[in-house]
Amino acid sequence: MQKGNNILLTGGAGYIGSHTAVVLADAGYGVTLYDNFSNSSRSVIQNLQTITGQRFNLVEGDVRDTATLERALREHDIEAVIHFAGLKAVGESVEKPVEYFDNNVVGTVSLLKAMHCAGIRNLVFSSSATVYGQPHYLPIDESHPTSATNPYGRTKLHIEELLADLARSDSSQRILCLRYFNPVGAHESGLIGEDPNDIPNNLMPYIARVASGRLPHLNVFGDDYDTPDGTGVRDYIHVMDLADGHLAGLMHLQKSTGWQAINLGTGKGFSVLEMVRAFEQACGRPIPYQITDRRAGDIATCYAKADKAWQHLGWRAERTLEEMCTSAWRFTQRAVSSA
Ligand code: NAD
Ligand code: UD1
Repeated sequence: MQKGNNILLTGGAGYIGSHTAVVLADAGYGVTLYDNFSNSSRSVIQNLQTITGQRFNLVEGDVRDTATLERALREHDIEAVIHFAGLKAVGESVEKPVEYFDNNVVGTVSLLKAMHCAGIRNLVFSSSATVYGQPHYLPIDESHPTSATNPYGRTKLHIEELLADLARSDSSQRILCLRYFNPVGAHESGLIGEDPNDIPNNLMPYIARVASGRLPHLNVFGDDYDTPDGTGVRDYIHVMDLADGHLAGLMHLQKSTGWQAINLGTGKGFSVLEMVRAFEQACGRPIPYQITDRRAGDIATCYAKADKAWQHLGWRAERTLEEMCTSAWRFTQRAVSSA
């Protein structure tokens, strides 16, 4: 997509969508956010305008509402869509699978119908390293076998497969599935970031809650894994690097047709205890923790082979673990002081 084109971000008010909105606006794209605010706040829009000094179009709607979506695509003269909208909590997906099938899979089919009617063929989809299931080898490249271990993962896998079928049926389709590893951190302003309403499931927002005194200690889920310090190892990627990856992905779509899946990770793994220490450095206070049982379904180690993104998108992660922690801490402090 060329600079100046208009891009619609479903779920654009959410964690990854809002950071991507900043990068796209800064790069000269027109950005329309389409969100039902089921997991985000309207105040994000003001913060985006403060950060970029630019205006964002906002359409409040659900991706399953095909008519509203199609109208938004036409009215804002959209050239490409980045599809972030969806539910993402693994545990909740086990308890409420039908909500996940509906929101994620039915929502995507609705988007595809709206895009078809509006004549739009360019799509970037938020996929996840979860589509690799239990790793067979490391680092995980894009040829690694795919599988699902829970309903959330199954929705990502099914959507990828639907999109591949669509691309096979119509040679004018340009579809890029970006498989994110573990996004963390926040925009350097501290104005946008990840602050879940409930008790966080994921490590970094949980550590941030402990650091700010809102939770007493971190539970470290197991220290008997086959890893250097016994705790789980993951490929944490700064959300601004991830946002840059979407910009590179959009530019890539201009010159490629068909379906493609590409990892967005750093290629490096850090353990839970390494994350705790890095966050302690960033916030200048101790993070109390207790070792508890392993979390059901967790794996020991997961990190990406990130070469394909470099070869095809000319993108690679640049930001350090320290930047991930300091930006997350800045955002947490702001969120706490303005609460
Ligand atoms: P998020 O919950 O912060 O953002 C999702 C946004 O979509 C929210 O603003 C929410 O209100 C909106 N939304 C949800 N359902 C909707 C619907 N039916 N219609 C319209 N809007 C809807 O999540 P995020 O972390 O920004 O994740 C974005 C995408 O990336 C998701 O698809 C997620 O599965 C995927 N992903 C996230 C991670 C991660 O760790 N954050 C990792 C891999 C993949
Ligand atoms: C989670 C999702 C996965 C998604 C990925 C990227 C689950 C079960 N899986 O996996 O689908 O693709 O994020 O966003 O939610 N940990 C603790 N204490 C905590 C929280 C986490 O010790 O309170 C440990 C975990 O055991 C793991 C590491 O921290 O070793 C990272 O956990 P988390 O942030 O939940 O990410 P993933 O497990 O990679």
